[in-house]
Amino acid sequence: MKYTTIRYGVAAALVFAIGCSSSRQSNFAGKDKLPIDRKVDSVLKLMTLEEKVGQMNQYNGFWDVTGPVPKDGQAAKKYENLKKGLVGSMLNVRGVKDVRALQKIAVEETRLGIPLIFGFDVVHGYKTVSPIPLAEAASWDLEAMKKSAEIAAAEAAVSGLNWTFAPMVDISRDARWGRVMEGAGEDPYLGSQIAIARVKGFQGDKLDEFHIAACTKHFAGYGFAESGRDYNTVDISDNTLHNIILPPFKATVDAGVLTFMNSFNELEGIPATGNAYLQRNLLKGEWKFDGFVVSDWGSMGEMIAHGYAKDMKDAAMKAANAGSDMDMESYGYLNHLVTLVKEGKVSEDKINDAVRRILKVKFELGLFENPYKYCDENREKQNIGKKEFQDGVLDMAKKSIVLLKNENKLLPLKKSGQKIAVIGALANDKTSPLGSWRIGADDNTAISFLEGMAAYKGNQITYEKGADVALGEPRFMVETKINTTDKSSFDKAIAAAKQADVVIMVLGEHGLQTGEGRSRSDITLPGVQQELLEAVYKANPNIVLVLQNGRPLAIPWAAKNIPAIVEAWHLGTQSGHAIAQVLYGDYNPSGKLPMTFPRNVGQVPIYYNYKNTGRPSTDNPESVFWSHYTDIENTPLYPFGHGLSYSTFEYSNLKLDTKSLQKNGKIKVTVDVKNTSSVDGKEVVQLYIRDLVASVTRPVRELKGFELAEIKAGQTKTVSFTIDEKTIEFYSANKIWEAEAGDFQLFVGGSSTATLQADFNYSN
Ligand code: NOJ
Repeated sequence: MKYTTIRYGVAAALVFAIGCSSSRQSNFAGKDKLPIDRKVDSVLKLMTLEEKVGQMNQYNGFWDVTGPVPKDGQAAKKYENLKKGLVGSMLNVRGVKDVRALQKIAVEETRLGIPLIFGFDVVHGYKTVSPIPLAEAASWDLEAMKKSAEIAAAEAAVSGLNWTFAPMVDISRDARWGRVMEGAGEDPYLGSQIAIARVKGFQGDKLDEFHIAACTKHFAGYGFAESGRDYNTVDISDNTLHNIILPPFKATVDAGVLTFMNSFNELEGIPATGNAYLQRNLLKGEWKFDGFVVSDWGSMGEMIAHGYAKDMKDAAMKAANAGSDMDMESYGYLNHLVTLVKEGKVSEDKINDAVRRILKVKFELGLFENPYKYCDENREKQNIGKKEFQDGVLDMAKKSIVLLKNENKLLPLKKSGQKIAVIGALANDKTSPLGSWRIGADDNTAISFLEGMAAYKGNQITYEKGADVALGEPRFMVETKINTTDKSSFDKAIAAAKQADVVIMVLGEHGLQTGEGRSRSDITLPGVQQELLEAVYKANPNIVLVLQNGRPLAIPWAAKNIPAIVEAWHLGTQSGHAIAQVLYGDYNPSGKLPMTFPRNVGQVPIYYNYKNTGRPSTDNPESVFWSHYTDIENTPLYPFGHGLSYSTFEYSNLKLDTKSLQKNGKIKVTVDVKNTSSVDGKEVVQLYIRDLVASVTRPVRELKGFELAEIKAGQTKTVSFTIDEKTIEFYSANKIWEAEAGDFQLFVGGSSTATLQADFNYSN
């Protein structure tokens, strides 16, 4: 045995007695299931009820863990409980030194020595920050996203962490919701593929010391908060729940995700944390998920405010009975669960089930075998921020950029002889590109846009901020104050624009203007930036608008007037280099929007896979009685799937090898995509279907396949897709997933507005 110097507790000793090989593959890889279950049971048998409940308790990091022992207050209580074996997991404790210090208490000072699992929000990178997930989704590049998750996992793992609260797989159709930055956008198919890629990246094929447990969140419906206001009530149909929201969750179960997190919202009047249908019937029942579910932060206690539990004891009872296995920072389980079991209000079987799941994940991670598996100071030093990670996030950042508009080939920029005026506070911001979930990273560590541009020497660059986006220094836990009044720097910006051949305006949202708790009712450019844009335009209309933001923005004026628009999101540590390389044409953009851009906020929720309504259109321009607005078109500003390139592509020759899909059969779809430009490029070839008549109404289009095709200048590539029954299945009037016989339309192209069409039918 390798770690003989460590004093293991009784449970660990027994575990070793029954055998546990150091090269054991994780259950994630589908192996060795039985032995793990036996090991889990061997530990469970030794545990008192109090210790079992302790495993179900997760504490937030509390005191200077390597400093003096806390004497009083909550920290002292947490410390005492940790020593009593009443804590199963910690969150927000990171760095090898701190993790080791707490793990040592759990392993050496508690009766059984059960190791802790350490969780953290490694949502888009840890110290080396990758693009926000919405941006990464715009790449449609599953391999790249897997790699990005792998980098995040490795950097977190070498810092002592073994569990990330990611991926967030909440589908959302509402750009007002601040957390759209954390997801993969509006589409269940794309969202499912991305969710799988991320889980695979975090967990790897094998849970070695560079991979960690993933956590699919937030189960479920959180992205459908009414009016886009975070934490708000969710009231949706069963049809929407099953066809739109649940697919990415299910996909991660099938991909072997180890944990789930429930959500703050209610669904059908029942808060998710107390929702037995979601957690017991569906997730652990029908889907056979065998990992554990952690509540969201304090969500157990929040059931009181929801009006679903009368006090914390009632909340703990409801959560435990509904299948919430671990309590994040409500202390509901710790304070009440033992009593509830003794009173017969929660069965010990349910407790055993929860604890089994938690122990199983700890075994999967190899923590019983070596509780300090993730604690190696040298590994930490050697890996944090290393070049390979920087290169990886740079690659991901370039792939995430979407060219929304490029009139008169304003882009790519000429590399020499140009006077370029760069305007906008975000251009000089080294923090904002880190986005919202970057609590592992330090401020001022991103490459700013100006720094990225400075890597190119041929042009003369002047910079004017024009206007601040935020007032003061935005902070993670504090509301960001937006500048709505100060225009004192406009004049200098206008003067700089007048002297320039090309103006680059870097506008958008501060990184801490999106994310949790940061919903907006107005999704235009915040503060005085729109005014700045229009004022500069009057001086020099030759503008490239670079957007840095965490959600779709309503920018109708810019879309109409500004010749070139680049969606550069919050791209992480390497942001400036990525954008500059795209603007100069050293990287040919290929990103496509994973979420619809509205014309104005009144259109929200707006999404490509809408239903047709009984009055979708009218032949009579005078008529009012059809589904429309009287003041704006129905169409979006930029549709789902839209994105340009410096190459141009032409689609032709859409062919189906048969037009009739039989039960257990297949249709092969092929299409020719020609790069009609003189630059090599990549195109996301997208396939959509429409089910014309069904037992419940179906969307006008649904994405069912895509391929990121690399096509050399002037060449044609034949891209193929396969359609089978799975492609056309949906959650039907029978409340099951099934394929119904009938007629279908199929569309292939470069966005959700693709026009190349073919038809087929299905008979079963
Ligand atoms: C609340 C958020 O909703 C969740 O996503 C996150 O993982 C936890 N806080 C822990 O930070």
